[in-house]
Amino acid sequence: MTPKTSERQFNYPKEPEVVTFETPFGKFGIFTCFDILFYEPAVVLVNKMQVDTVLFPTAWMNLLPFLTAIEFHSAWAMGMRVNVLAANTHNTSIEMTGSGIYAPAGARAYSYNMKTEDGHLLIAELDAHPRLSPASPPAVSWNSYALSVEKFSQNDHEFTGIIFGDPFTFVELTKPGGNLTVCQKDLCCHLGYKMTEKRDDEVYVLGAFDGLHVIEGQYYLQICTLLKCLSTNLSTCGQPVESAQTKFEMFSLSGTFGTSYVFPEVLYSGVQLAPGEFEVLTDGRLINRNTTSKPVLTVTLFGRWYEKDPPQTDWASGSCPNKKKVLIF
Ligand SMILES: *[C@@H]1O[C@H](CO)[C@@H](O)[C@H](O)[C@H]1NC(C)=O
Ligand SMILES: *[C@@H]1O[C@H](CO)[C@@H](O)[C@H](O)[C@H]1NC(C)=O
Ligand SMILES: *[C@@H]1O[C@H](CO)[C@@H](O)[C@H](O)[C@H]1NC(C)=O
Repeated sequence: MTPKTSERQFNYPKEPEVVTFETPFGKFGIFTCFDILFYEPAVVLVNKMQVDTVLFPTAWMNLLPFLTAIEFHSAWAMGMRVNVLAANTHNTSIEMTGSGIYAPAGARAYSYNMKTEDGHLLIAELDAHPRLSPASPPAVSWNSYALSVEKFSQNDHEFTGIIFGDPFTFVELTKPGGNLTVCQKDLCCHLGYKMTEKRDDEVYVLGAFDGLHVIEGQYYLQICTLLKCLSTNLSTCGQPVESAQTKFEMFSLSGTFGTSYVFPEVLYSGVQLAPGEFEVLTDGRLINRNTTSKPVLTVTLFGRWYEKDPPQTDWASGSCPNKKKVLIF
């Protein structure tokens, strides 16, 4: 968790190292922490080295709405279509909690515990070769649906909100159900939705961000998100929020992504995952299967456009992002 500036003695590999090993139950690869956000070594291990399972020891400081450990690590397993065994440090005073056994179709077991310092052993069964398994979801063409439809009704009341330094374009979900589009640069995000009830005391927005993220490392993002605002004051949209009361009968989120690396996130009230309750269709729509069993914090398509990253001369391989430092200073 130490800021990368104080980890210089560890951090600058001349060549990022790709580590794999074979077992009777599939090929394994290893990387740690912040590596998960970058092409090398994380994507290389999956695409080039063809690993089945990633071992991911980490000291991950949670950051809502998109980068809480269980949320992002399970989304990466789904987006990359591999198993991820994520073992996070557990220390609630620095907001590190959240380990899991994640399969491409969803979390098989996970633990998120901000109440005690107790450890937790996770056990689950996984496919040895997830990409060959009929239970694994098929490859996704992330922009097919979004490029095939007209923009839904455009909203005149767009506004900007900042998430982890990134300026998102937002529109409010003013009705109990409907179809909305919000665009930023080349990314248009489409949402169809129906809430079980439109509450007066909760505000949800649809947001789009297409740009270079520049805090604690520089990396290019394309993000479509449905999220709950901290309060009914629209200037709080994007701030971390951990509880909600609104369930959704239906949601369908898609975007005109320029990248094929998109990580689907669904996070419920109480910072809980929703295994088995949602899926990604081959045309790129992230949809729910039934009415959500819990109220929704966020439904997000987190896209990484690696080709648009600046040269990574200064990022710290293996370092964990110390995100809170930025928020406090
Ligand atoms: C948790 O982190 C704090 C702050 O770094 C540290 O002082 C404390 O010793 C840690 N607790 C454990 C159990 O490691
Ligand atoms: C949203 O779009 C879907 C299909 O495109 C349509 O069936 C539905 O009636 C629309 N809902 C609203 C409230 O406009
Ligand atoms: C909304 O929140 C902002 C900052 O979060 C604050 O400056 C503003 O006064 C609030 N507006 C209302 C109407 O409460």
